[in-house]
Amino acid sequence: MPTAAAPSFTPPPSRTPTPTPTPTFDRAAHSTTNPASPWIVVNKHHPLDPVDYAPDDLVTVSAGEQVRAEVADDLRDMLDAAADDGVTLTMQSGYRSYAYQQQIFGNMLGVYGREYAERLSARPGYSEHQTGLAVDLGGASKPACDFDPCFATTPEGRWIAEHVREYGFLVRYTKANQDVTGYAPEAWHLRWVGRSLTAHMAELGVTTLEETFDVDGGSDYR
Ligand code: DAL
Ligand code: ZN
Repeated sequence: MPTAAAPSFTPPPSRTPTPTPTPTFDRAAHSTTNPASPWIVVNKHHPLDPVDYAPDDLVTVSAGEQVRAEVADDLRDMLDAAADDGVTLTMQSGYRSYAYQQQIFGNMLGVYGREYAERLSARPGYSEHQTGLAVDLGGASKPACDFDPCFATTPEGRWIAEHVREYGFLVRYTKANQDVTGYAPEAWHLRWVGRSLTAHMAELGVTTLEETFDVDGGSDYR
């Protein structure tokens, strides 16, 4: 009598979990020296190259101000989110050409004298505004505080300090980082770097591009 065939046994599929890779941040994903890069580091040691660089993809946002195209969506989302929180942020300054920065810096020298002007304003070729990646925001609640240290204490200044990283922006010049950046605190000057970098910097607990990318900075021009 034939023996019944033994039931075949199919081993279950391996249960070894496939590890989910920890997302790693690629510090080299963008240049820190190309003026068209979202991660360009511009400071008193690192001018734009060429010094009269002008972006080729500027778009007009509000108040006739312009920014690079890749900044515009995050900027709009940020201003809308502030409005939803009852905070009205106003565009005061976006892209500034070499020639316009020269005019601003010259005016500052005339008004404040060299020592203080150098702490408030960048020389032409050294301003983040010339990249089209920086904006100065004002507040509707107290326009007299626009471009003034008292902006930090307004609802708009406080909202900025708390929220802009969520939209890929940094408050670039703070009291704590002024030795690194070389400028007096500006609670209104925001630099767009993109959300992946602001999240990475929050994880690192650093506030400057210089520390993030090991780039030198300071108050003295080189
Ligand atoms: N106020 C900043 C430093 C600029 O002039 O770009
Ligand atoms: Zn500014």
